[in-house]
Amino acid sequence: QQQVAESLYILNAFAQKFFAQQLFETEEGGNIALSYLEERGFTHETLHKFQVGYNPQARDVFAKHALQHQFSEEVLLKSGLVVNRYEELADNYRNRIIFPVHNNSGKIIGFGARVIGKADKAPKYINTPENELYIKSKILYGLYFARQAIDRSDECLLVEGYTDVISLAQAGVENVVASGGTSLTTDQLRLIKKYTNNLTIVYDGDAAGVKAALRGLDMALEESLNVQLVLIPDKEDPDSYVRLVGAQGFKDFVAENKKDFILFQLEVMLKEAGNDVNRKNEVVNHIAETISRINKAEDFTKQQEYIRQSVSILKIDESGFTNLVNKFI
Ligand code: GTP
Ligand code: MN
Ligand code: MN
Ligand code: MN
Ligand code: MN
Repeated sequence: QQQVAESLYILNAFAQKFFAQQLFETEEGGNIALSYLEERGFTHETLHKFQVGYNPQARDVFAKHALQHQFSEEVLLKSGLVVNRYEELADNYRNRIIFPVHNNSGKIIGFGARVIGKADKAPKYINTPENELYIKSKILYGLYFARQAIDRSDECLLVEGYTDVISLAQAGVENVVASGGTSLTTDQLRLIKKYTNNLTIVYDGDAAGVKAALRGLDMALEESLNVQLVLIPDKEDPDSYVRLVGAQGFKDFVAENKKDFILFQLEVMLKEAGNDVNRKNEVVNHIAETISRINKAEDFTKQQEYIRQSVSILKIDESGFTNLVNKFI
């Protein structure tokens, strides 16, 4: 087990070196991948920092290179860098941009591989399969680079994607990690809590993003994190938005549009319920349960504050609502 992990680390580091070389030092990499990344506004400095690379088009350049360097077929397959295609080894990330994923000591545990340009048929991203190193539920992309900034600012911004993290960091907004667009896990929240109690979720306003974010809410409350939500407007995402309005514009937007997550959820559900009394009742119950998840021993004042704000939004009786909250505990 330990040995497998060790050989995966070595292979990943070897692969990163190869992919970076392909991106910066070959004609194909320059024409196909580097030009695309430059067009999107990424500087070489940024690409070097995040150790971005390129896996060429040919079916097995990386596989061959790795076999020549005595990596076993077994570890190659396990890493996800190489797959078995028609009973021969082939590169899994052919013709893709490679984003290495680092652990907290800066070692590479896996990769995200993006198609170049528009994703027509193929999936836009392919990620490393679960293995001894790459355990999806415990990974926050960019944490290795963001830790100090999160600590300093006492806030962690959570975005959806690799390019959001990289683009914001390039603009000077460094306290950013990405979840990969899926809902947060308890392990991920605990990673954040090592550095700050303040989590600000910055997603695009599309329904999928918000739903994914909402799914993480109850767990975040149980970990007693303060969760705020910011939705990026008009089909933009943090990457495209920071390019549009600049670093200061982005920071101002986040500061001005941060919404408390619980109250945000309450407003969304209330709007959906409209004048339907039964549905409003369901909303009341749901919010009571959500508030009950705030760890009472640790955050009594916070819980009281939510109760006050909720009854004011819902226009209901405070003591009755408090009783309801307590029923869920
Ligand atoms: P760009 O298009 O390069 O700006 O990337 P993006 O991060 O904006 O992509 P998008 O908003 O579509 O997706 C957000 C994140 O979800 C990505 O960074 C990936 O981590 C993940 N994701 C997106 N598409 C796929 C996919 O096809 N497969 C998998 N496994 N993950 C994906
Ligand atoms: Mn360079
Ligand atoms: Mn989206
Ligand atoms: Mn996006
Ligand atoms: Mn994007």
